[in-house]
Amino acid sequence: MSKKVMLSAVQPTNKLHLGNYLGAIRNWVALQNQYDCVFFAVDLHALTVRQDPAELRDNTYRTIATYLAAGVDPKACTFFAQSHVPEHAELAWVLTCFTGMGELGRMTQFKDKSGSKGDTVNSGLFTYPALMAADILLYKANLVPVGHDQKQHLELTRDLAERMNTFLGENIFPLPEVYIAPTASRVMSLLDPTSKMSKSEENAQAAVFLADSDDEIRKKFKRAVTDSLAAVAEKDVSAGVLNLFQIQAALKNVKVEEIHKSYVGRQYGYLKLETAEIVVEALRPIREKITALMADKTELDRLIREGAQKARARAGKTVSQVYDKLGLLPRFGS
Ligand code: TYM
Repeated sequence: MSKKVMLSAVQPTNKLHLGNYLGAIRNWVALQNQYDCVFFAVDLHALTVRQDPAELRDNTYRTIATYLAAGVDPKACTFFAQSHVPEHAELAWVLTCFTGMGELGRMTQFKDKSGSKGDTVNSGLFTYPALMAADILLYKANLVPVGHDQKQHLELTRDLAERMNTFLGENIFPLPEVYIAPTASRVMSLLDPTSKMSKSEENAQAAVFLADSDDEIRKKFKRAVTDSLAAVAEKDVSAGVLNLFQIQAALKNVKVEEIHKSYVGRQYGYLKLETAEIVVEALRPIREKITALMADKTELDRLIREGAQKARARAGKTVSQVYDKLGLLPRFGS
């Protein structure tokens, strides 16, 4: 029996951070042997925000290098850059025509990102979830491991899959399940633990980037906001303290309660120091591998192109199937 499809992606905007690793990439690696895996860098999504071309290029390589460095197995998984597979944009257009303005307007990420920008918000930011749904449905994905912030986009994807299946009169798309890890699915900012750690973090001290040196990581945790009490309480810990527990629990593969118990009555300094060391040890080998992979762009290019070829063969079949059902003329060569 063929394996089910697991699929996920990261935007190559700025540098990836601890939240991207714990909330997403690490879980892909843990599950990859059980699935037929498709992972890519969503460079077209990145265009919803103005990008410096050289930085975008570098970040796209870096994103793919991060997947590999974190343990994504190139033999078992297909990985590539989204823009190399034009079928993403093609299916996205079809899905855009089946998505309501109201549905897109309700997306909290759109509301957060558009905020007070008014007329300067580009329409790509608005229709973004249809492109994300296309990413997922093109490969008929069964499981999508993401952080908590992507849950609503996944719900829309499921609605669209159902809508398309009904309209096309055939169950072309399986309904993708979302996988959100039990710990660290929403890693919070170190300086403002009421908001999530983000790539666009204005203050670089609030996020731990995968490219940070050991000492930078230590410094950031030292400044992390915890609590004003003298020591860790038995109940009702603050958001900042819980965030550090979550990070430790995820990296040690234990329950948050276990970490909490071990700190009751101890001063916050120890929690910060020890969390920093655990993160330093976990990220160092990944950082070193990323650096080595980034030094050989020829090999990265080869891997990315090979992945795109495999992906296009699959994606092309889905687009032809959908176009045919919609009444578009057969494509040349299909
Ligand atoms: P992106 O690039 O913002 O984030 C990549 C992944 O990291 C997760 N994540 C977090 N997890 C825990 N704590 C955090 N602070 C944190 N910040 C980010 C995200 O949930 C995500 O899993 N729209 C997506 C990319 C995308 C995609 C897809 C994902 C495009 N097409 C298809 C899955 C399937 C995004 O912007 O993720």
